[in-house]
Amino acid sequence: AKKKMWGGRFAEGTAASMEAYSESVSFDWQLYAEDIRGSQAHARVLAKQGFLTDEEAAAICDGLDAVRAEIESGEFRWKTELEDVHMNVESRLTEIIGPLGGKLHTARSRNDQVALDFRLHVAARLAVWQESLAALVEVLVARADEHRETMLPGCTHFQPAQPVTLAHHLLAYAQMFKRDFERVTDGLKRVRVMPLGAAALAGTTHPVNPQAVADDLGVEAIFANSMDAVSDRDFVLEAVFVGSLVMAHLSRICEEIIIWANPNFGYVKLPDQYSTGSSIMPQKKNPDACELMRGKTGRVVGSLMGLLVLIKGLPMTYNRDMQEDKEPFFDADKTVVASLGIMADMLRQIVYVPEKMLETVKRGFLNATELADYLAAKGVPFREAHHITGAVVAHAEQKGVGLEDLDIAELAQFSDRIGEDVFDVLDYAASIRRRTSPGGTGPDSVAGQVEALTKWLAGL
Ligand code: ARG
Repeated sequence: AKKKMWGGRFAEGTAASMEAYSESVSFDWQLYAEDIRGSQAHARVLAKQGFLTDEEAAAICDGLDAVRAEIESGEFRWKTELEDVHMNVESRLTEIIGPLGGKLHTARSRNDQVALDFRLHVAARLAVWQESLAALVEVLVARADEHRETMLPGCTHFQPAQPVTLAHHLLAYAQMFKRDFERVTDGLKRVRVMPLGAAALAGTTHPVNPQAVADDLGVEAIFANSMDAVSDRDFVLEAVFVGSLVMAHLSRICEEIIIWANPNFGYVKLPDQYSTGSSIMPQKKNPDACELMRGKTGRVVGSLMGLLVLIKGLPMTYNRDMQEDKEPFFDADKTVVASLGIMADMLRQIVYVPEKMLETVKRGFLNATELADYLAAKGVPFREAHHITGAVVAHAEQKGVGLEDLDIAELAQFSDRIGEDVFDVLDYAASIRRRTSPGGTGPDSVAGQVEALTKWLAGL
């Protein structure tokens, strides 16, 4: 029992099974850099507050630098019996600099410490998410720019509906990931809060200065309530929620790529680098990267669910349950960053096949709305125009041709309002050009989106 840092009042040691059950160092060692940064800031402020001499603070900071060097060179020996990263670092510090190391934990609890370390870590990782999101938006914009003229059958209910440009379609995804980026920016305001000085839960009698620690660490805000400071895990949940949404967005593209790569569609050719073959069927090229990403979405959403259930029954303030908040984040972080990187690379390499898209546009009577609108513009009530057009579609379908392939005499049988000028509106490219409404698939709107997104990226 004596070997535990908190072992003063214990007569018996911890059961081996309990030690294995309760340790977190096997995963929270990843917080070592933040733990050391936080402790160094704490030591400097303790000195500023007159609690340590400058020499003592300097010795502690140097000692912590030495600990970091040992960790980074791989010679550090992590000890499970010391439970977590915080105790491992502090214990080694005391071995290196002697009893002075014990002064570091003045006016601080592991409850504040773990909250600080994790906040610093999540903030650093969210900055990486933002880079990855911006890189993906950039690829989407670049591919969209290449395909301003490429016609794609736009769908509702996954049924061919109206022609759009592939550019417009890709930019819809760019908008999603831009919003995700902004969600991260907003969430960061709530992550970047400095909890040190809560001193476990109630505040402290020591003359702490949380704002000075926050300034030292370059974190904008400090806690307003010491109980909230140690028990708030909203920042992790929000991060994993945004991660889940990012994955859901990625999963939608994956689903589409999987369908588009099926030869019955053939809209895309998968990059070799992100596909796999079959061990038995030599012709196969499987969209495994997309399938895995779609699958891993479940994993990140699972982490979010786990976290929500984790906190739902916790009374104030810190409870050991909270130790379970780290692995879901670490796992989500790894998955989100890898997925964003792979998606960006995959979209950079994917080959779009405009001819195949055009084939479906033609086969799907995607100019039918144009004909109905044409009749409506000539004074036919839209309901009736819709009905007439339906009859024309049925006729063309029976003949196995498109509306634009019918001749004017044939068309005129359905309505005397149909004249030669109907062929102008039956032209698919024209239907896109004429969609000049704000945010529509028309060329001005698409050009405007490309420009706005490019500007946004440049301003990051
Ligand atoms: N390993 C713990 C965690 O991750 C650190 C805080 C422990 N505090 C305590 N009083 N036992 O939450």
